[in-house]
Amino acid sequence: MTAESNNGAVAASDEIRIFDTTLRDGEQSPGASMTLEEKLQVAEILDDMGVDIIEAGFPIASNGDFEAVCEIAKRTRRSVIAGLARAIHADIDRAGEAVRHAERGRIHTFVSTSPIHLQHQMNKTQEQVLDIITDTVTRSRNLIDDVEWSAMDATRTPIEYLCRCVEAAIRAGATTINLPDTVGYATPEEYRAMFETIRDRVPDADKAIFSVHCHDDLGLAVANSLAGVAGGARQIECTINGLGERAGNAALEEIVMAVRTRGDVLPYSCNVDPKYLTRASKLVSAVSGFPVQYNKAIVGKNAFAHESGIHQDGMLKNSETYEIMRPEDVGVKSTSLVMGKHSGRHAFRDKLKELGYEVGDNAFQDAFRRFKELADRKKHVYDEDIEALIETEIATQGEQIKVIALTVIAGTGGPQKAILTMDIDGRHETREATGDGPVDATFNAIKDIVPHDATLSLYQVHAVTEGTDAQAEVSVRLEADGRMATGKGADTDTLVASARAYVSALNKLLARQNRPGHQELRAV
Ligand code: KIV
Ligand code: ZN
Repeated sequence: MTAESNNGAVAASDEIRIFDTTLRDGEQSPGASMTLEEKLQVAEILDDMGVDIIEAGFPIASNGDFEAVCEIAKRTRRSVIAGLARAIHADIDRAGEAVRHAERGRIHTFVSTSPIHLQHQMNKTQEQVLDIITDTVTRSRNLIDDVEWSAMDATRTPIEYLCRCVEAAIRAGATTINLPDTVGYATPEEYRAMFETIRDRVPDADKAIFSVHCHDDLGLAVANSLAGVAGGARQIECTINGLGERAGNAALEEIVMAVRTRGDVLPYSCNVDPKYLTRASKLVSAVSGFPVQYNKAIVGKNAFAHESGIHQDGMLKNSETYEIMRPEDVGVKSTSLVMGKHSGRHAFRDKLKELGYEVGDNAFQDAFRRFKELADRKKHVYDEDIEALIETEIATQGEQIKVIALTVIAGTGGPQKAILTMDIDGRHETREATGDGPVDATFNAIKDIVPHDATLSLYQVHAVTEGTDAQAEVSVRLEADGRMATGKGADTDTLVASARAYVSALNKLLARQNRPGHQELRAV
C-alpha cells in the first residue's frame, strides 16, 4: 500500500510515522502540565530525534496553550506541528491560526463516534455527527492541506457506523484518519481487525494514512498500537515515558525499540534516532514531575541492570546472552566519575555536552555555581549528579520565587524549626516557622512567605546515587482549585531539595493561574 499525504510525500508501505503527543495528551495528565519554556525544550528534542509529527497542544484551551503551539511551530525545523481542535469552528480556526507559523502544520480535529459518547456526552444522533464530520473536516481543509480526523472512542463504535464516519472524513479531505482506543479497552486482535475491516470496506481508504492512538488502561497500549500497524495503520500516536491521561498513552520509546529490535517480525522503518530516548525520557520526567518507574522498559533505571549472578556470568561471557538491546543504542552512558571541585567551566560545559545538554549562558552560570557547591560537599560527583543538577536548573529557570537559604533545627526534642529566606521577584524575605518534623516546618515557612491554599498531594524522595552523601531528588505535587503542579528539587540536603521542589511546584501553580477553563477543555 502507498498513500499520498497532504504535503505530497508518499509513505512507503513499511514506513511508520511517529506522532508524538507528549505535549498534548501527555500534558493533559493531571499534575503534568508544563511551562512554555519546558514545552519548547521537549519540542526541540522531539524534533532533533526525528519525530515526524509533534502534537504541540490544544490551542483553544488557553492563551498559554495557543502561544506554546505558535512558538513551537515557529522554531521547529523538521517535524510537522499539529494543533488539536474539537469539532467546533472556533477550535478549528484557533488551531489553524496557531499552526500556520509552522513550515508544515496540521489541524487535528476529533469528534466522538461511539453510542455511549453520542448519547451522554454529545446528545447527538449518528446522522448529526456525520454532518459535523463533513462540516468540520471541510472547514479545516479550507485552512490547511494537512488535516487529521479522529473518531474518539472508535473501538467502542459499531463498525458499520465507523465506516460511514471514516468515509465522510476522507470525502471531506482528511489526509490522516486516526482511530483511537480512547478508553484503553481493545485487545490487539480486535484492534487489528478494526483497521483491516475499515481499510477494506471504506471507498478511497488508500487516500489517507491510518493512525493508531492507544491508551494503556489494560497495559495493552503498545501491543495494540503494533497490532493496528499490522492491520494497515502507518502512523503511531504515542508519548515519551507513556505519559498521558489515566494510565497513559503508548510509550514512544517502547514502540521505537520494538520496531528496531524485532525487525524480523515487525518489518517497518521509522525516523526516530533511538540515541535520544534516554535524554528525552529524563527531560519529560523532570518537566512533568512524573518519575520513571525503575523497571520501565527501555528507559527505567534497571532496564539494563543485571544483578543476578547467573545473568552477570552470562553477560561477561557474551552480552547477547541476556541483552536484546545495547544500552548505548538508547543513549545510556556508563556511569563515570566526573569531576571534582577543581574542575573548571570548560570541563563542566564539555561534560554537559557529553550528557546531551546545551543550556543558555545564564542557566550555565547558575548550574556551574551549583556544581561547585556540590563538589565542595560531595566526595564523588557522578554523571547522575550532574544530570539531576542541570535538570533542576532547567526546570526552575525564570521562576518568580526562589529558595535562597534554609536552616533547619531538627531532632528528638521538637517542635522542629525552619528559618527560610526566599527571593520573590528580586525582593528577599526571611521567616521562621515550626512544624511537625523538619519537612513540615520548611513547608510552613514557605506558606508564611507566600500565603496560598494549595494542598500537598505527593511528597517523594529518592537518592540520585549510592552513599550517604548522595543527592536527594524530591518530587512535590500541589493541588489548588482543581489544578495540579509537580516540582522537583535536588540537593545533598534533603530539606533543601524539598524546599526547592515545593517552590518549583508553587511557581507552576502561580504561572497557571491565568489559564481559565483549561480543565473543561480537556479531551480524553
Ligand atoms: O484518546 C483520544 O481519543 C484522544 C483524541 C483527542 C485523539 O486523545
Ligand atoms: Zn488520547
